[in-house]
Amino acid sequence: MRTQVVIIGGGPSGLLLGQLLHRKGIETVILERKTRDYVLARIRAGILETGLVNMMREAGVSERMDRECFVHHGTCISYENEMFDIDFHKLIGQNVIVYGQTELTHDLYDARDAVGARTIFEVEDVQICDADRDAPYVTFNSGGVEQRIDCDFVAGCDGFHGVSRTTIPDTVRKDYEKVFPFGWLGILSETPPVHDELIYANSDRGFALCSMRNENLSRYYVQCALTDKVEDWSDEDFWDELKRRVPEAIADKLVTGPSIEKSIAPLRSFVSEPMRWGRLFLCGDAAHIVPPTGAKGLNTAASDVHYLYEALVQYFQDNETHGIDHYSQKALARVWKAERFSWATTNLLHRFPDQSEFDLKMQRAEIESLHYNEVAQKWFAQNYVGLPY
Ligand code: APR
Ligand code: PHB
Repeated sequence: MRTQVVIIGGGPSGLLLGQLLHRKGIETVILERKTRDYVLARIRAGILETGLVNMMREAGVSERMDRECFVHHGTCISYENEMFDIDFHKLIGQNVIVYGQTELTHDLYDARDAVGARTIFEVEDVQICDADRDAPYVTFNSGGVEQRIDCDFVAGCDGFHGVSRTTIPDTVRKDYEKVFPFGWLGILSETPPVHDELIYANSDRGFALCSMRNENLSRYYVQCALTDKVEDWSDEDFWDELKRRVPEAIADKLVTGPSIEKSIAPLRSFVSEPMRWGRLFLCGDAAHIVPPTGAKGLNTAASDVHYLYEALVQYFQDNETHGIDHYSQKALARVWKAERFSWATTNLLHRFPDQSEFDLKMQRAEIESLHYNEVAQKWFAQNYVGLPY
């Protein structure tokens, strides 16, 4: 087989890149380790920045998103019994939308099917060969048969556990990491959201988040210990704990119900540099992870896709290599800013095991400055809605 770009990973990064390139007449093959149903069953975050929304439109995949999404003009922060709103629209004239990553991935698969672009599922033993030479190729096993695809470029969109990042030799690659000493226990329930905006809650008992997918589907999280197991938490325990961490007025109107999904995710900040090695480019979770506190995971993947898409179009249409040569530098400049926002928001809102009384006072002072200082709110708003590409 031969194609122009082999995309490893059929998550949102790989699918969006494939769809955008297809619209410019650039051919791709996507190799995905799991089945399509497995990929679509993953529950992930659901806040989209304008940059990603615009790319979905440019890719011609926004019809359902535009119809079904909720526009959020701001977000709420609570501490003890206080709650305040950061009004993005008023502060900087922008907003975000609520549309689940699962739905977005669904739409991208449907669009890929509609244009007849090739996706090979359940591939094993993917290996990227000669990425540092002029004629790279990818080998893999599909249904017990060894296969090879020759290509011009490889896009490593295979998430944190993929093969792309580790194809870059250790002598070239440097990883930066911070592991947080807690996780998030999340549930999805078919209940109406407790509030019309998200609530990020700092409390003595730890962080909590009230989020949503639609008018009858809510997503809630509580900070938990890394040693906790999902089985340790009954639905009742979860709801009781959530109610203790949000202001009373919110707890009083919370509608509870059985969970339809419950999972624990660890929190980590991670960046791998560089994001390009020869003809291999890393995109999304393959190159970086953020703690979910600022909803930056999917959105940061999207900005990588934007830079890579631009670079590949320049190359194939104008034989211009500037975009490719500067991809890593451009993508990383934005990635580090998203890392900083996610790390800072995580520090602001969680309880840490080794926090001293002084540390708690500092956290409180920082939250109050976000509550009462418009400059601090503007900084938060600019980062939350997404820095420009
Ligand atoms: N070969 C082929 N596919 C692979 C391999 C491999 N060796 N390793 C992993 N994959 C697939 C995974 O099964 C997954 O479907 O790559 C895909 C990567 O998708 P994601 O992990 O979703 O990563 P990405 O597309 O970069 O999405 C951005 O932002 O909100 C965050 O973590 C969240 O998934 C989200 C991410
Ligand atoms: C979610 O809805 O799952 C969600 C929203 C915002 C976040 C993290 C997760 O910051």
